[in-house]
Amino acid sequence: MPTVDQYIETHKDRFLNELLDLLRIPSVSADPKYKGDVARCAEAVKQRLVEAGLEQVEVCPTKGHPIVYGEKIIDPQKPTVLVYGHYDVQPADPLDLWTSPPFEPVVKDGVIYARGSADDKGQFYMHVKAVEAMVKTGQLPCNVKVMIEGEEEVGSDNLGTFVKANKERLKADVVLISDTAMIANDVPSINTGLRGLSYLEVEVTGPDRDLHSGVYGGAVANPINVLCDMISSLHDKDRRIAIPGFYDAVKELSAAERKALAEAPFDEQAWMKDLSVDAVLGEKGYTTAERCTIRPTLDVNGIWGGYIGEGAKTVLPSKAFAKLSMRLVPDQKSEVITKLFKDHFEKIAPPYVKVVVRPHHGGEAAVTPTDSAAYRAASKAMEETFGKKPIPTRGGGSIPIVALFEQELGLKTILFGFGLDSDNIHSPNEHYGVFNYMKGITTIPRFFQHYAAMANGKA
Ligand code: BES
Ligand code: MN
Ligand code: MN
Repeated sequence: MPTVDQYIETHKDRFLNELLDLLRIPSVSADPKYKGDVARCAEAVKQRLVEAGLEQVEVCPTKGHPIVYGEKIIDPQKPTVLVYGHYDVQPADPLDLWTSPPFEPVVKDGVIYARGSADDKGQFYMHVKAVEAMVKTGQLPCNVKVMIEGEEEVGSDNLGTFVKANKERLKADVVLISDTAMIANDVPSINTGLRGLSYLEVEVTGPDRDLHSGVYGGAVANPINVLCDMISSLHDKDRRIAIPGFYDAVKELSAAERKALAEAPFDEQAWMKDLSVDAVLGEKGYTTAERCTIRPTLDVNGIWGGYIGEGAKTVLPSKAFAKLSMRLVPDQKSEVITKLFKDHFEKIAPPYVKVVVRPHHGGEAAVTPTDSAAYRAASKAMEETFGKKPIPTRGGGSIPIVALFEQELGLKTILFGFGLDSDNIHSPNEHYGVFNYMKGITTIPRFFQHYAAMANGKA
């Protein structure tokens, strides 16, 4: 019988090709046009879980896209790891900015280019292959349950219902998720927190129809101008968010905590250069690293209205729209913040426009402990495969399921991400290193080993 490492080495080409096949399925959850592809992807994931040696494998329908579940229980007395991931991906547009088609994966210079390569197919599939390697070599040291959903990128609307209805089936000791990034390939790190989210859309209406901007312009409020004024009033001169009560629940970090986080290497100049910006902008009193992780934000994600076609059209539009998101930190509550925004935005609307605020989805921030058996197991596993102890860091993105697992199942999560911030997730030319993919596959079994040995059924 080969060792787990030998098994992985022998099958590594197949592991890569299987991922490429999965990346060919355009499982875009946001666009109804791809509903059939999302369903097809769920079936493909199911098939792969079966082949990896998981049991009770099932495509579970929801009101939206299905959830794929499988498990391998070797001994009910042993601890259980619940792996979560998502097989849905973000829309690929703008398509013309991709150097190769988003759903025709290519491997160039050791990097896999495709939508979903890093977020999250390439990362959740590492677990499928790691489980396969452990099962096929008779080395699975504890129980494993795998849940891969298809609605993460659109707010996981139906996951809460599924988790509540399947508490017994999902019973575990710890949750393991690979859907985040490390500092660098030679600087491993483990995320110990994520931000929450409140996402909404606003509509500003001026006159009841588009008007000639010469005949009426100057005397009737232009809703686009008004929307811009309203949006710019949402930050003060220190780039703090000017919504009354917005910071009330924010848990400030102690000086010691900030100092510890500041120890993670961060090259601001290189960071700026990578983004082609000559200066940074953010909340006064906080560093760039802090601004994108431990502080809340408010951003416009899209803004539109009026004439945006070819050439010029002199029009004073009737309506203006924007999509906005706020990233939240402990202990801000998404629902509370959404209401604060709505009340404030309606209140500041001048009499010459009407404003409608439509909340979309949200999610809560999460912090994960570093003093648990699971964290120690994850840290030790990474230390072995990277030759360096991983640095605990806070992440800026959101994975709302992490707070949900804690609330509904009482479980803590290990954010065992192997991506990089530079993977272009949600952007054109998303990519994932073959190095990262293989490193994940070899590191995950070590986590299982150490966790099973350390946990004795307790996280
Ligand atoms: N994998 C990301 C979240 C992420 C990325 C966390 C990088 C940390 C570092 C996830 O797929 C995602 O995109 N989440 C959404 C939230 C969701 C509610 C749509 C996000 O963060 O915008
Ligand atoms: Mn993701
Ligand atoms: Mn994502």
